[in-house]
Amino acid sequence: MLFGISLFAHFAGLSLWIGALLFSTIVFILVKSHVNGTNEIRELAQRIARIAMRISHLGAFLVLISGVYMILDLNIKDKPFWLSIMEKGGGSVIIISIILTGIVGSRTIRRMSNLEDRSVKISGFVRSSALSLVLIAAVLFIVSMKY
Ligand code: HEM
Repeated sequence: MLFGISLFAHFAGLSLWIGALLFSTIVFILVKSHVNGTNEIRELAQRIARIAMRISHLGAFLVLISGVYMILDLNIKDKPFWLSIMEKGGGSVIIISIILTGIVGSRTIRRMSNLEDRSVKISGFVRSSALSLVLIAAVLFIVSMKY
């Protein structure tokens, strides 16, 4: 029962994580050339970035917590290749993604909230979200190859 709930949390977290990263990547590619435009766009972009970052971090954290619980619960000595990759590779991707999008995202949000600053660039934020998505896809690909 608890294992099932953890697997559900693992998938729900994965959906939130991927969904929020994909959403912010697309929105900020579209907003890129307008971010130094009107104050309304600036404020909206800043609020979207803050919410998307919160949701993606929450999702990544859920994936990590549920994954660690399931690994401990399974208690396997000789883990199959895909499970070790998910544990170590996936765990690293979670940490890297949270730190990278956290640092780059909060710097971008801080600059956007300063309405005097008219040279804000958001390509770093887009790149860090896109890189996280590619790394998640790589882990998903390896896990899928178990069949
Ligand atoms: C990018 C990060 C991750 C992705 C994309 C991911 C994806 C998945 C997927 C697709 C499954 C279902 C596999 C199946 O049963 O066929 C799964 C299950 C599982 N994941 Fe992850 N995961 C990630 C991170 C982690 C981490 C960090 C851990 C542990 C520390 C972990 C532990 C597990 C465990 C124990 C299962 C259940 C395996 C089983 O049912 O035998 N995962 N994960």
